[in-house]
Amino acid sequence: MKETAYLKCINPYCGLEYDIKNTNITCEKNHFLDVQYDNIPSIELKELFYRRRNYRDNIFNESGVWRFRELLNFCQINTSDIKSCSKYLVSLDGIEGKQSKPYRMSKVADFIGLRHNKLLLQLEGYNPSGSFKDNGMSSAITHAKLVGATKIICASTGNTSASAGMYTANENMECYVYIPNEQIASGKLSQAYQFGTKVIKVSGNFDDAFLKSLDDAKKINAYTVNSVNPFRIEGQKTIIYRLLEYLNWDVPDWIVYPGGALGNASSCGKCLMELYKWQWIKKIPRLVIVNAEGAKTLYDLYNGEFDNTKLRWNDGKPNLELLDRYYKYLNENQIKPNTTATAIQINKPANILKCIRALEFTDGIVTKVSDSEMLDGMAIVGLNGFDCELASGAVPAGIKKLVDAEIIKNDDLVSGILTGRQKDPSLFVEYHSNRKNRFAVTPIDYTSLE
Ligand code: F0G
Repeated sequence: MKETAYLKCINPYCGLEYDIKNTNITCEKNHFLDVQYDNIPSIELKELFYRRRNYRDNIFNESGVWRFRELLNFCQINTSDIKSCSKYLVSLDGIEGKQSKPYRMSKVADFIGLRHNKLLLQLEGYNPSGSFKDNGMSSAITHAKLVGATKIICASTGNTSASAGMYTANENMECYVYIPNEQIASGKLSQAYQFGTKVIKVSGNFDDAFLKSLDDAKKINAYTVNSVNPFRIEGQKTIIYRLLEYLNWDVPDWIVYPGGALGNASSCGKCLMELYKWQWIKKIPRLVIVNAEGAKTLYDLYNGEFDNTKLRWNDGKPNLELLDRYYKYLNENQIKPNTTATAIQINKPANILKCIRALEFTDGIVTKVSDSEMLDGMAIVGLNGFDCELASGAVPAGIKKLVDAEIIKNDDLVSGILTGRQKDPSLFVEYHSNRKNRFAVTPIDYTSLE
């Protein structure tokens, strides 16, 4: 009997399929993999998901990830049987995704120039480890447990390692994290230690650390939980489920993310492709990815800023030679990613092909913002009473840019994903100490009051 969930190569001209317990990141021809489901989930599940919000004692209904478990049932379990859920699904006692939902932020809307009811910002930083990663980590560690892995490995700019550390500590697994030395917020590094991970400091940036972690994963037989892992992508789809459920399964006009390794963009695309195929949604929102100016590979390639050629998914035939040429140009000119938003300081986004597939499906856009625009974006979210980190500040900054350019229209409903909480305490102190910053509320020296 054919399994209802399996892995499938994303290249439609290859299409190799693998058992769900496969742990390779790519097919044998080196293409990335998707989790694929044969069944079409009943639209009536929408009602069940909503009812589960009254979770009583069931942590899998409490969890903002596992509440939607029928749509990521790669363990192929009876999802209504709590014993099966407890045996297979990994959860931090139901807390992942529980508090992340869209919020209205009037001051941010004023800054952007949108009416208050036209902007929704979803706080994924209000997850247990402080970032959106917990959505995908609960599902990736679930798969690790399914295949009997006990050693987990990742490279990280800090949030992935914090999340991996938290889940592995709770599951009694070993965790190895490869951290770019001196390019990580202190709050994130501290979490890696707090949860007892084995910290491996790599000289260089995230791209260097990532390659080393992939090599070492093979050597020590460890299970990779970076977003190249297709099971990470499955959990991250629930970010969009929560957004759409809040909108009664209507879709916004735009969904906006900061872009780093592009796992979020990939999961958003896969989520929308599935929902559209199942006819759960009738319209496709447009995806916006916001790069930092100092780490803008996707921006350059998607917009034809390099060689006047635009990188497109092209129905599964992307111009890979263009991608190679761009990376060669970065290497030869020793161009390193450089932004204060270290979370997205990445020049070789591993998921770029899944991302351009998502951009093709959603008629998406890629923009870029400066560090100072991100700082203002982060600051105005703070002045609205909410917490986000600098990389997430790219979201209000990017939306503002597109509203100013009249690409996003006044009547459009825009939802942005604020991906992480503030873990670099010095940033706000520096920002508000400098009166030249747009939203600075400068400290007062007591003596000046006397
Ligand atoms: N926002 C935050 C707060 C992040 O930590 C990251 C990525 C991103 C955005 C980018 O998301 O990779 O899906 O495009 N952080 C990774 C890490 C790289 O190691 O914590 P993406």
